[in-house]
Amino acid sequence: MLNHVGSHLRLVAFLLLISTYFTSLVQSICNSGCDLALGSYYIEQGTNLTAISRYMNTEINNIVKYNLYTTPDSIPCFERINVPFSCDCINGEFLGHVFTYELGAWDTYELVAKVLHANLTTADWIRRFNSYDPHRLPDGGNINVTVNCSCGDGSISKDYGLFLTYPLRPGETLDSVSSSVNLSSDLIRSYNPDFNFNQGSGLIYIPGRDENGNYPPFKPSSGDPRLSGGVIGGITIGVVAVVLVLAGFSYNGVYITKSKLLKNAQAQLMPIRAPTGSSIRSSESGGVSADGLTGITIDKSLEFTYEDLSIATDDFSLANKIGQGGFGVVYSAELRGEKAAIKKMDMQALEQFLTELKVLTHVHHLNLVRLIGYCVKGSLFLVYEYIENGNLNQHLHGLERDALPWSIRVQVALDSARGLEYIHEDSVPVYVHCDIKSENILIDKNFHGKVADFGITRLTRVVGRKSRLAGTFGYMPPEYVQYGEVSPKVDVYAFGVVLYELISAKQAIIRTDDPDDEPKGLVAMFDEVLSQPDRNDDLVKMIDPRLGDNYPLDSVQKVAQLAKACTHEDPRLRPNMRSIVLELMTLSSSTNQNLDT
Ligand SMILES: Nc1ncnc2c1ncn2[C@@H]1O[C@H](COP(=O)(O)OP(=O)(O)OP(=O)(O)O)[C@@H](O)[C@H]1O
Ligand SMILES: *[C@@H]1O[C@H](CO)[C@@H](O)[C@H](O)[C@H]1NC(C)=O
Ligand SMILES: *[C@@H]1O[C@H](CO)[C@@H](O)[C@H](O)[C@H]1NC(C)=O
Ligand SMILES: *[C@@H]1O[C@H](CO)[C@@H](O)[C@H](O)[C@H]1NC(C)=O
Ligand SMILES: *[C@@H]1O[C@H](CO)[C@@H](O)[C@H](O)[C@H]1NC(C)=O
Ligand SMILES: *[C@@H]1O[C@H](CO)[C@@H](O)[C@H](O)[C@H]1NC(C)=O
Repeated sequence: MLNHVGSHLRLVAFLLLISTYFTSLVQSICNSGCDLALGSYYIEQGTNLTAISRYMNTEINNIVKYNLYTTPDSIPCFERINVPFSCDCINGEFLGHVFTYELGAWDTYELVAKVLHANLTTADWIRRFNSYDPHRLPDGGNINVTVNCSCGDGSISKDYGLFLTYPLRPGETLDSVSSSVNLSSDLIRSYNPDFNFNQGSGLIYIPGRDENGNYPPFKPSSGDPRLSGGVIGGITIGVVAVVLVLAGFSYNGVYITKSKLLKNAQAQLMPIRAPTGSSIRSSESGGVSADGLTGITIDKSLEFTYEDLSIATDDFSLANKIGQGGFGVVYSAELRGEKAAIKKMDMQALEQFLTELKVLTHVHHLNLVRLIGYCVKGSLFLVYEYIENGNLNQHLHGLERDALPWSIRVQVALDSARGLEYIHEDSVPVYVHCDIKSENILIDKNFHGKVADFGITRLTRVVGRKSRLAGTFGYMPPEYVQYGEVSPKVDVYAFGVVLYELISAKQAIIRTDDPDDEPKGLVAMFDEVLSQPDRNDDLVKMIDPRLGDNYPLDSVQKVAQLAKACTHEDPRLRPNMRSIVLELMTLSSSTNQNLDT
């Protein structure tokens, strides 16, 4: 019987295990890979098969099989050889293979990509799968070297099911490639539709031959999301949902019938917001893993024991409490000699926990708070790097801190814009944070900003899809409040509100003591000011009085204009994070000059 299922802890652990296991299935970009792909490895002088077999994690004999004129003792020079590897669906997001490489003392990502892996990957692409600081790689450390691959595409041709990942070299063209492999250029182009063949670099995919010299046909199940995605994805979400049901059920500790279980689980997973603050976290619609975010890969080495965390926080003593959000309490801690912040959440916040875990194990950036680990025991715990100077909200609105000088405000804006630019445009996959506000921008000891709290982050891929409303009033744009429309422009709007806060040190929603006064949004307030004919005088009245006269008015005006653009009612007319970063960089350098002189 189900009510014999002991503690919910075991089930949640099981859930984590299952979601790890099904990672590749839950998301819809790819569901599975294929057993074989080939890397086209260009041989330069000075390399040999022993070295290549080490870089490409395969035996020499296995390489030789796929190369007609190559033997273990003789390999060609200034030619390509084919190196076999399995083509896996990585995190459900793309097809690739993760090679492991042990770093030598002088290795850089650049060298590993361009020389040791013969441009089958790039330094950038390697960097995304490794947490090391690229400028301080540890001698002897293992890195992940991810190489993209293809399993074919049934809608292009059913005749080809094995593919070469082929780094184009300077001087090569579509015609030269097609004649060297004796396949038509049309065929090669159809597999690489958007590729610019004149750039002399970059990866293309070309049908390849098996060890017998034949082209193996396309296998429908192999990694073609268009064919199998929906079905497998559906089943998996089902499986995960059932496990979530069990977790929710065991949390309640009562026996309910099967159909009630599902409802119960959804209720359990519907994050319940603490009554404090003006944030909301749930609404009527929604359900389990609507974003496909339930599938996560968790690194075992990130796991802490409850004892570790308990000792580190002096048994979660109130003296160590440094923050409180809607989902949990944050404690400062001393872990393995490093200062850390530990967020303790109820089991109900499982969805937020999994989302934050998934996002922060994927994205690494100077301006995003770093996750150190997690723990599931009785509650859910996330462990982060400790950020010394609290959050931006405290600096702007709290009286216990000195007023931030204008140049620092511009710096913090630029830092957080960079963090957002990264998740919007550069990380893989790309995300929307969905809860940008001054409380979620942390300030480090050098007064640089870092974006935190990824509990309700969405994949940008599901953009446009109506989604459950979650966020904080005063920061949510109209299209999101009204239609639940999620896009990076949701963060841009919220970022604009933060800019207004930086100028005025007013809260996003202003309430007066008079109960007859309607609460007023900061955006509306600034809109009014900035639409006045004598807007500069009115703007000056809005500036944080704690700044005194210590601000360059033109810089404040520019930030106000930027904030106005960010909070435009029409999301299409808001700038993207990339151009916001550029704008703030210009402002930041001129602001600093003004202060220096
Ligand atoms: N890494 C950290 N270092 C120092 N302080 C932190 C850290 N992480 C969080 N805090 C503090 O704890 C507060 C709450 O953290 P966080 O926003 O992550 O919690 P939450 O429960 O998810 O809140 P929210 O209501 O915003 O969703 C932050 O505003 C900050 O003051
Ligand atoms: C193969 O190359 C490696 C690294 O370049 C080198 O250390 C090794 O001596 C070479 N082996 C042979 C047999 O040439
Ligand atoms: C990798 O690409 C660079 C140019 O970007 C080129 O100089 C180098 O020779 C290439 N390496 C290999 C092994 O093809
Ligand atoms: C690998 O594929 C991903 C996803 O399609 C892409 O973003 C990335 O740039 C590719 N990497 C390389 C080295 O081509
Ligand atoms: C390599 O990838 C694995 C699995 O994602 C991860 O656990 C590990 O930390 C990565 N290595 C580095 C150096 O980041
Ligand atoms: C190239 O392919 C054609 C058929 O597509 C074949 O007739 C010809 O023999 C091939 N040439 C070589 C050198 O393999």
